[in-house]
Amino acid sequence: MSLSLLKSVTAAAVMRNLQGPILEIAGLRKDYGDIEAVRGLDLTLHFGEIFGLLGPNGAGKTSTINMITGLVKPTSGSISLKGIDCIAHVKRIQGDIGVVPDESNLYDELSGFDNLVFCASLYGMRKAVREQRATELLETFSLSDTGKRPFKAYSKGMKRKLTIAAAIMHQPPVLFLDEPTTGIDVESARQIRLLIKSLNRKGTTIMLTTHYLEEAQRLCGRIAFIARGRIVKTGTVDELLGGLRSDHLLHLTVGGQADQLAAMLHQHHPSLRCTEKGTHVVEISSDSPVELHPITAFLSGHGFPVYEARRVEPTLEDVFIAVTGINAGELESREKGGRKR
Ligand SMILES: Nc1ncnc2c1ncn2[C@@H]1O[C@H](COP(=O)(O)OP(=O)(O)O)[C@@H](O)[C@H]1O
Ligand SMILES: [Mg+2]
Repeated sequence: MSLSLLKSVTAAAVMRNLQGPILEIAGLRKDYGDIEAVRGLDLTLHFGEIFGLLGPNGAGKTSTINMITGLVKPTSGSISLKGIDCIAHVKRIQGDIGVVPDESNLYDELSGFDNLVFCASLYGMRKAVREQRATELLETFSLSDTGKRPFKAYSKGMKRKLTIAAAIMHQPPVLFLDEPTTGIDVESARQIRLLIKSLNRKGTTIMLTTHYLEEAQRLCGRIAFIARGRIVKTGTVDELLGGLRSDHLLHLTVGGQADQLAAMLHQHHPSLRCTEKGTHVVEISSDSPVELHPITAFLSGHGFPVYEARRVEPTLEDVFIAVTGINAGELESREKGGRKR
């Protein structure tokens, strides 16, 4: 085989590898006593992607990440990373993954710098290399000035950034982040999102969990909606929106309480799905084009003027509500709980 042919065959193999699965999960379950936290989850993570597991509190996101990364033993199912059985060989995958738990696993008494150096020592990195990398990462995360302070003196945002730095000291090809921006200040969250994107551009495959729709939409190439321990739908944002795009979706701004008017409208026009979208905004969705005059005539005939009618495109929130039955408010505020469902 000529050298150039060999090169192109190798390049094709590398491309295939890059597009193929790096992590495969099948039938994954986790029961804590009578609580079914994860109920038969199938999922594939591809080389080079940012994949988001999006769902409300209690959906099973942390349990899933913890099972993949070896922190929690699955009740049943299989997990394989680069073809290695992660359940049977937890230790063998540790060098290939970085894990950022939802609550930091770093040492309160150690300084930021010492925490990083200590984490790197667990991966057998040489002293000079780990000290150089710790210095670089403190710089990357704008933490150089605070590198000598004990971890316990850090703000929440700084703690999260240092926890991410610790997880990537050994430059793992796959990074798992559990709610990376939850509960921290806006600026730290922005820096973390930028960093996630930059790591991904340099080749790190990333899986993260979040209960922020917007974060999933901004960061992730593919998203899986998880609810009550099951994945309800997976796809790119475009694929997820595709199912709803055929809907005819209108927002009416009305001179009355939207919830009452939505109910009245639906009663009068049963083929229209009418919901409240704001105090004075009614959303109308229909499988066919909506004729406006009968609606405005009906509402104004009852003393409720219609000020505006606007066609809108469906959002990821609409898709989430349609496939899970959970509304976006609930997504962000839902309390933990989950007896047998
Ligand atoms: N160690 C545990 N013991 C008992 N129940 C747990 C434990 N960890 C999680 N759960 C329960 O499992 C369900 C899923 O939790 P979790 O995986 O933390 O969801 P999420 O990360 O999506 O909020 C919840 O009902 C939660 O209360
Ligand atoms: Mg969680």
